[in-house]
Amino acid sequence: MKQFISVRDIGDLRSAVDEAMDIKKDRFKHVELGRNKTLLMIFFNSSLRTRLSTQKAAYNLGMNVIVLDINQGAWKLETERGVVMDGDKPEHLLEAIPVMGCYCDIIGVRSFARFENRDYDYNEVILNQFIRYSGKPVFSMEAATRHPLQSFADLITIEEYKTKPRPKVVMTWAPHPRPLPQAVPNSFAEWMNATDYDFVITHPEGYELDPRFVGEAKVEYDQMKAFEGADFIYAKNWAAYMGDNYGQILNCDRSWTVDSRQMSVTNNAYFMHCLPVRRNMIVADEVIEGPRSIVIPEAANREISATVVLKRLLEGLEG
Ligand code: CP
Repeated sequence: MKQFISVRDIGDLRSAVDEAMDIKKDRFKHVELGRNKTLLMIFFNSSLRTRLSTQKAAYNLGMNVIVLDINQGAWKLETERGVVMDGDKPEHLLEAIPVMGCYCDIIGVRSFARFENRDYDYNEVILNQFIRYSGKPVFSMEAATRHPLQSFADLITIEEYKTKPRPKVVMTWAPHPRPLPQAVPNSFAEWMNATDYDFVITHPEGYELDPRFVGEAKVEYDQMKAFEGADFIYAKNWAAYMGDNYGQILNCDRSWTVDSRQMSVTNNAYFMHCLPVRRNMIVADEVIEGPRSIVIPEAANREISATVVLKRLLEGLEG
């Protein structure tokens, strides 16, 4: 594997999940693979799970790890070409990226949507500059439009907990006080659409996602109807994508908060969320603390998805 930025890069999902299960039995099985190889993790945005799980995955493979928080201790970076750099940004990303590439074998990048310009975000300008100029294999640690390490962990989790070959998986919008990117829901939709699950998306009108990610998924505006018979509920907030509303909060309707009322019409569904989660905005305490909440095993699987991805990128170095 030469890069990991979307579901397309992982290839056959069955073999990816099988590899994940194999690594889960012995996560140090490939500890020699990364000897004398260095992972550089670049964060333009905050993280708890991605930072820790990816670092742990690299150690599972015997790699060395360097972590750089761009906004804490690095030179402030200019990202636009053609700018007269007479402001507060002393370094340009176009020099910084190839320099970073000199010190590592693989680069992970976290760079969220900025919500200033939809085309800029959806063209993945920052991530693509790393791919183009670093000279090293690049993987996404959540970019503007996708979070594939999370989606892969979500898939592993569903495969572990499902009790039927074709579970009903419902991704629901839920309220949040701040506008959040569409990367997680886009990516989750993309990965679910690559399975043969019965996949449904529910959200209030106005929160339609990019049709390229929705694909063939069923969209249901009535949340209770969508939840009927569901085996998995995947909650997430996202800001509007469509038209002039891009990046806006259109409503904060608390009736969409996932609580025992909605869960009661499911098929005793498992509750999932990528975390961090705002309790009693996205999900009620009783649901996230309840026996069907699998948010912690889901987060634990981030180490497994990252180990599979780094293993494949290391193998790709030899090709
Ligand atoms: N789910 C996830 O990516 O968590 P962090 O933002 O804490 O990395």
